[in-house]
Amino acid sequence: MARQDLRGKVAIVTGASSGVGWQAAVRLGEAGVKLCITARRVEALEQLRHALNEKGVECISVPGDVTVQADVEQVVRECVTHYGRVDLLVNDAAVQSYGLFSELPWEHLTRTFDVNVFGFMRFARAVLPHFKQQGSGHILNVQSMLSKGSAPLLSAYTASKHASLGWAQCLEMELVGTGIQVSNVLVPSVATNMFAHAPTMFGLAPKPVPPTYDPDVAARAVLQCALRPGRTVVPVFLGGRLLLWVNALLPKVGKAVMGRFGARMQMRDEPIDRPEGNLFRPVAQGVGPYGPVPPTPLWKRLSATAGLVALASGVVLGVAGLARAAR
Ligand SMILES: NC(=O)c1ccc[n+]([C@@H]2O[C@H](COP(=O)([O-])OP(=O)(O)OC[C@H]3O[C@@H](n4cnc5c(N)ncnc54)[C@H](OP(=O)(O)O)[C@@H]3O)[C@@H](O)[C@H]2O)c1
Repeated sequence: MARQDLRGKVAIVTGASSGVGWQAAVRLGEAGVKLCITARRVEALEQLRHALNEKGVECISVPGDVTVQADVEQVVRECVTHYGRVDLLVNDAAVQSYGLFSELPWEHLTRTFDVNVFGFMRFARAVLPHFKQQGSGHILNVQSMLSKGSAPLLSAYTASKHASLGWAQCLEMELVGTGIQVSNVLVPSVATNMFAHAPTMFGLAPKPVPPTYDPDVAARAVLQCALRPGRTVVPVFLGGRLLLWVNALLPKVGKAVMGRFGARMQMRDEPIDRPEGNLFRPVAQGVGPYGPVPPTPLWKRLSATAGLVALASGVVLGVAGLARAAR
């Protein structure tokens, strides 16, 4: 797809009170996009709106819950009333809940799907009539490496992200030839506030599976997709494309490592009592793009990349050698 001129385009960004959504709004605003930002926390949205307005970015904030149909319709209505159109929907709002599948409360499973899957679908359904009338539009979904992978303690979240990517890929096919594009960004672990407000059954503060990147990595990928729509993008190498290759070539390695160490990898030695976090109601903690866990330093990411490339090359050469010897 040809590069779009984003200046003057209108975007709705969900999940904008925190993390990737916040930073994506900043990146889009800097590129000249007029914004309608939404999430449940009014004060956080106002904080971002002021920051954007000060940079000369046009922005309105319309609070709402993505699980409430009337809220979703109101966000889209207010955007169209204010700007006269909507060109881009960035579906970002999501939640996760840490716990063994057998111990996660059933309501955590259904709520995770209601936000992460049906929330994306509700917003898509609300903008599609406008896109169809315009003969153009772009639904850009913030997905996860867990849309293609798996991790212990995150069964509800992972299943929701697989479902959301599957839905988005079907929608993309249905919209071929309409002028309406669908994109997906497969985000790696990023150092957002998700880990400051996600519920956990473990009594220990959660952290992302390493390596962890700066949330701006995901925000820049959102901007790149907005500029060139219709793609599914994996923005990083180590915690992204290399991971996909290793999982495809050596599926048992990933399963063994994550099965043995994955749960511990996702906990900090910091006791907390957070059985519900921000799952059902918004919470005060965790406003802005950056969360409590810092990104993994570059030198550590480079060393791990070298190690994994060496391992994968060794296995491929070993298999090739065995195959030659067998002939
Ligand atoms: N962090 C990671 O390591 C990571 C990795 C892969 C993919 N991702 C993806 O990146 C996206 C953003 O995640 P993040 O890390 O930025 O998380 P985050 O900091 O927790 O942000 C989540 C956003 O969703 C909003 N939200 C939650 N429930 C909502 C609801 N019911 N209605 C409306 N808004 C709701 C939150 O705002 P309110 O509480 O104010 O409503 C917040 O703005 C998600 O799609 C996530 O799956 C993140």
